[in-house]
This record gives sequence, C-alpha cells and structure tokens, in this order.
Amino acid sequence: MSVKPSDVKATLSFSDGTPAVEFPLYKGTIGPDVIDIRSLYGKTGKFTYDPGFMSTAACNSSITYIDGDKGELLYRGYPIEQLAVNCDFLETCYLLLNGELPNAAEKDKFVDTVTHHTMVNEQMQYFFRGFRRDAHPMAVLVASVGALSAFYHDSLDINDPHHREVSAIRLIAKLPTLVAMAYKYSVGQPFVYPRNDLSYSANFMRMMFAVPAEDYKTNDVMVRAMDRIFILHADHEQNASTSTVRLSGSSGANPFACIAAGIACLWGPAHGGANEAALSMLEEINRNGGVAKIGEFVKQVKDKNSGVKLMGFGHRVYKNYDPRAKLMRETTHEVLNALGLHDDPLFKLAMALEKVALEDEYFVTRKLYPNVDFYSGIVQRAIGIPTALFTGIFALARTVGWIAQWNEMISDPEQKIGRPRQLFIGSQSRSVPPMNARK
Ligand code: SDX
Repeated sequence: MSVKPSDVKATLSFSDGTPAVEFPLYKGTIGPDVIDIRSLYGKTGKFTYDPGFMSTAACNSSITYIDGDKGELLYRGYPIEQLAVNCDFLETCYLLLNGELPNAAEKDKFVDTVTHHTMVNEQMQYFFRGFRRDAHPMAVLVASVGALSAFYHDSLDINDPHHREVSAIRLIAKLPTLVAMAYKYSVGQPFVYPRNDLSYSANFMRMMFAVPAEDYKTNDVMVRAMDRIFILHADHEQNASTSTVRLSGSSGANPFACIAAGIACLWGPAHGGANEAALSMLEEINRNGGVAKIGEFVKQVKDKNSGVKLMGFGHRVYKNYDPRAKLMRETTHEVLNALGLHDDPLFKLAMALEKVALEDEYFVTRKLYPNVDFYSGIVQRAIGIPTALFTGIFALARTVGWIAQWNEMISDPEQKIGRPRQLFIGSQSRSVPPMNARK
C-alpha cells in the first residue's frame, strides 16, 4: 500500500502580506489525511510548532491503525477483538512482521524458528550478577537488551534484510527469557532455561515460576491469559516508545540498542509504567477504605493541585473506550473465576471506580476512559506476576511492534535521520564576562 496524493491542496496565508504558500495533501487507506509540510521551512523560513506531536504524522505506516473516536484498533487491518480470540501471540507476531496471517505451514516454521532462539548467551548470567537483587526489572531489561548487541555481531548490518529478520526473531524469542531471568534474579531463585517442547507463553510461565525442587505444571487458563495479554500489548501505532525506537533507528543504531531505548521510554508512568502505577493506586485506595473511599479519591483527582491522576485512564488517541481495556477486563474476569477469586477486592474496586469515573462530568467532558493499563495489573497479579514486572511484560509484548515498526522505517526509501527543530526562547548572543565581573 502507498501514500496517495490528494487532489486537495492546503494553502497557508499570513496576515502580514507574506505570500501564501501551498502544500500537497496525502490520503491514507483510512484515517486523517496529512499535509506535507516538508517544504515549509524552505518556502517560509518558519517551522511548525507541535510539542507532544498532537497534530503531527512522523511517518507513513501499514502496521497498526487506531480510531480514537470509535475505539478501534487494527493490526494489519484485523480488529484486535478478533485476533485476541482467534489467534495466538506468535501468529500475531508473524502478522505484524510480515503483513499477513500465517497459514499452518508458515506458522509451524515461524514457531520453530522462534522456539530455537529462546536461549541467551551463557555469559548473560554474569551480566545479571552485576545488579543488586532489588534492582527494578526495567533497569535490568534496558541494560540486558542493549547488551544483546554485544553478542550478535553477525546480525547487525541493518541494511541487510536477512540480518534484520534474524535480529527480529532473536528479540522476540529472547525477551521472555530475559524478563524471566530478571524476575528469578530479583527473588534469588536459579534461572530456568527455556524448553523447546512448550509454547511461547507456556515456556515463559515455566521460566518464571518453575523451581528445580519440583516439576512445573503449566495452567492452560493462565497460559492463554498471558498469551492474550501479549497480543493486546503487541503494537499501537506511533506511541512514545515506538517513536523512540524509530528515532533511534533513524541514526542507523543497531536493533538491540533501539529496542533498549524503547524499553527505557516505556518505563515512564505516563506510558507503559501506568499498569504498575494503576495497581499501586488501587491497592492504596483498598488500604484506605476501598469502594467507600472512591468518591474521596475521585475528588482528589479532579483537584489539579493534588497532582493525582487516575492511572490507567485517559489516552492521547482514544477518546472512547480503549478496546484493549474491554478485552483485558474480560480476561481478568476469566482468570479470577478460574482461580476462584471472583470476589477479588481490587477487581471489584476497579469496576466500581470505572463506573464512578465514567459517570463523572470531569472524565466525561475530557473523554477519559480506561486504557489498556487499567485492568492489566489485576490480571497479572492474579497470574502471579509481581507488580514491578508489569511493565517488563508490556515490553516483552511490545518488542514485536517496535521491531516491526523499526523494520518498516529502515526499509522505507523516504526515511531520513529524525532531527526536529525548535522555537528558541533563550538568550541572544552575548560575550563571556571575566570571573571578577560576574554577579
Ligand atoms: C499507554 O500512546 C499510546 O498508544 C500509549 C499506549 C500504547 O499501547 O503504547 O496506549 C500505552 O501509555 C496508555 C496510557 C497509560 N497512561 C496512563 O494511564 C497514565 C494516566 N493517563 C494520563 O497521564 C494521560 O491520560 C495520558 C498521558 C495517557 C494522555 O495524556 P494527554 O493526551 O497529553 O492528555 P492531557 O494530559 O493533556 O489530558 C487532557 C486533560 C487534562 O486536563 P485539563 O488540563 O484539560 O483540565 O485530561 C486530564 C488532564 O489533566 N487527564 C487526566 C488523566 N488523563 C488526562 N486527569 C486525571 N486522570 C487521568 N488519568
């Protein structure tokens, strides 16, 4: 698919008599048209100004489409609701990387390839030993994923499509192993090697929870829930961490370094760190009185001076319900029922808090709805994932989206190094005063 010139032009006129300038518009398959302003500076000596990129398309892409008003999310055209029910995570990985769902033979080959790349170099265990046991898993992941580039000199020529494919497979295959190692290291248990006779998500659960002292039996409900959580987090258009990966990749940095940069960005509480923050928020409300305290908490959120946000709510793009939050709530319900935890106080509290917020004028007027992070902490906690690892799980799942977007950018003939400009509001040129003349 390609960018199609629109027959509509955009004209920029100035009130000071500066000559008007025209810009071409391009149409996508679906979604907003774009105004090509690449010639703006050359024609006018002016920049656009768009902190936070509220109205800026940084690239063209065929991977993921979000309609924020409809609450729609498509991976390569397939609705997330259908993928989450009809596919597993590795099928979704294949789709995001290649643009089409795999047939049975293609899936078997892809699964076999990923399965046989799940081990990490044995030296990595010494890398981990440099960390304190209580290091945050995201710090460990940023470092260990970046360190992968120290081992794979054979696949770092980013202009070689085969090298890019090998790097993509290695990253998708090894993230679960590294996330599980970060967890095992934090609890002082021995690392568990991957097993090739297990599915991707069953293998991850075993690496996380198996101990040498006894056989580990995978729980199919938990494995399916984990796999669905991976699907729901796999990609999401040009979000902050994906844009970080693209910007890092635009300089020609190797894919492991770019993904490490994406993990660092995802860690922020406004982004992937929100699932950890949302669960901590629910636990605090629960400690302070639970459902009875919701009104007081919401009042605090609405008070700008409190600095308190309803974590897991709101989104730059979704001004309707995040479709992933709906699916996450269903998965949470399934897992809690399977565990006999249908009375889980945090789940009840989250649903009560959601109901209050969705009826409150502050949230309604700002179109604040639950996002993917609102329920994901509750279901991960029920599965046994520690709170500090929630964002690591998000990074594990998002790695396929990041590397698919990175690959699309590297293969795009239009791509150039990303180098935004600025509106300078600092000092004019001035001379350095001698020390004795400084105030
Ligand atoms: C993810 O981009 C992606 O696609 C990200 C993601 C992905 O898959 O990659 O979907 C994953 O990051 C989901 C978002 C997780 N973050 C949170 O749940 C943290 C809480 N949410 C907010 O920080 C906020 O909603 C953002 C950061 C998500 C979006 O912020 P925006 O788009 O910059 O919107 P804003 O901060 O300008 O908010 C608009 C208004 C403001 O009030 P006013 O100044 O208009 O009076 O809504 C308010 C905000 O104060 N607001 C909130 C709120 N979110 C926004 N008020 C209370 N609680 C909130 N959660």
